[in-house]
Amino acid sequence: MANNSNLGAAKAAKNDEFYTQYADIQKEVNAYLEYNPDTFRDKTVLLPCDDPEWSNFTRFFAQNFERLGLKRLISTSYAVESKRYKNYEPTLFETESPLFDIDKTRVKGKIFELTRDTNQNGRIDIDDLEWHYLEGDGDFRSAEVCALRDQSDIIVTNPPFSLFREFVAWTLKANKRILVIGNMNALTYKEIFPYIKANKLWMGATGFMTDMVFAVPKGAEVDPKDKAKAAKLGYVGDYTRLGNSCWFSNLEHGRRHEPLRLMTMKENVRYSKHKDLKEKGYQHYDNYDAMDVPYTDSIPSDYDGQMGVPITFLDKYCPEQFEIVTLGIGEAFLKPTKFYKYFADPITGVPNKEKRDYHLWIRDDEGRYLTDLGYRVNGVFSRIIIRKKQ
Ligand SMILES: C[S@@+](CC[C@H](N)C(=O)[O-])C[C@H]1O[C@@H](n2cnc3c(N)ncnc32)[C@H](O)[C@@H]1O
Repeated sequence: MANNSNLGAAKAAKNDEFYTQYADIQKEVNAYLEYNPDTFRDKTVLLPCDDPEWSNFTRFFAQNFERLGLKRLISTSYAVESKRYKNYEPTLFETESPLFDIDKTRVKGKIFELTRDTNQNGRIDIDDLEWHYLEGDGDFRSAEVCALRDQSDIIVTNPPFSLFREFVAWTLKANKRILVIGNMNALTYKEIFPYIKANKLWMGATGFMTDMVFAVPKGAEVDPKDKAKAAKLGYVGDYTRLGNSCWFSNLEHGRRHEPLRLMTMKENVRYSKHKDLKEKGYQHYDNYDAMDVPYTDSIPSDYDGQMGVPITFLDKYCPEQFEIVTLGIGEAFLKPTKFYKYFADPITGVPNKEKRDYHLWIRDDEGRYLTDLGYRVNGVFSRIIIRKKQ
């Protein structure tokens, strides 16, 4: 038992400690500036869940303070004693500062702020950052960091993956603009999908298929395949690639307004590179009035009804072209009951040993099962149900 919980804690710690690369931040932010050069002008940007002394978020926004036209940059860190991963040495920046406090260094969060040219060299940049210890540990949920959130216009970070849902809710409930990194699967979370559907949150500008590399704590265990991929991309050492990472935002960028170029149903079936579509054509769900479109590049231009498309469609989603109707969760049809050798129908709760297919389910925003689409799929692929805009 003790071993299991240690393993669990190690895994969770590992899952929270990934550090974003400068080039990935730069590429993403540039896409917003291309769309609107004033995206950040006169704005207060908050970078929570950061380690400002060496974070690339702090470095990027501080270096580009003037170019972006920022009013104020705030970056906060989480105290090492509150982290699950406690291997940490204070930086020289901290220990050599007159503000260094041995009693606070491990238990207090820190705040870094940039507003003015403190060294009077004629520009505001990273050398003008001012810092002090926070009253508390820098938990984003603390009253102190909530107050900083309320003073900010845009929140940018790579939040702890284990608290992603809570973090996004924390920002959006306060009506903030955000730019955050998460896992693509978060799209289907019941706490996240309603915002996507309501067009209050969308995918960032960097495409899903772009590999993102993250630094990990020194010596952290990393899947050798991901380590090798990171090395291939030029990041050798304590780095990993996280295949499903992507940006979530509610800042406007140009790519989301580029409509997909589509063929008709007839053309798709005739010219598709997907053998199954060519052979079987488009299929309808058994119990729901929608057509299954297993590949985003096979969405037809001439179908006006509802269509179930892969969740990766959201990477290409243009709100002027399609509306999102709902989410079909691909899930094992039957869930184990407390008599675990039986399985129960999620709607009726009736145990049933026979049916073990995978089905698609429409769930409500609370995650309750509403409709069984009944379409037997070969795995647990979820679908976004969309409809062409007239
Ligand atoms: C995925 S890392 C990203 C760090 C940094 N933003 C970056 O991208 O380089 C998330 C950080 O949030 C910290 N963290 C975990 N729980 C937190 C909490 N409740 N409040 C604030 N930060 C937290 C973790 O310790 C970790 O350093």
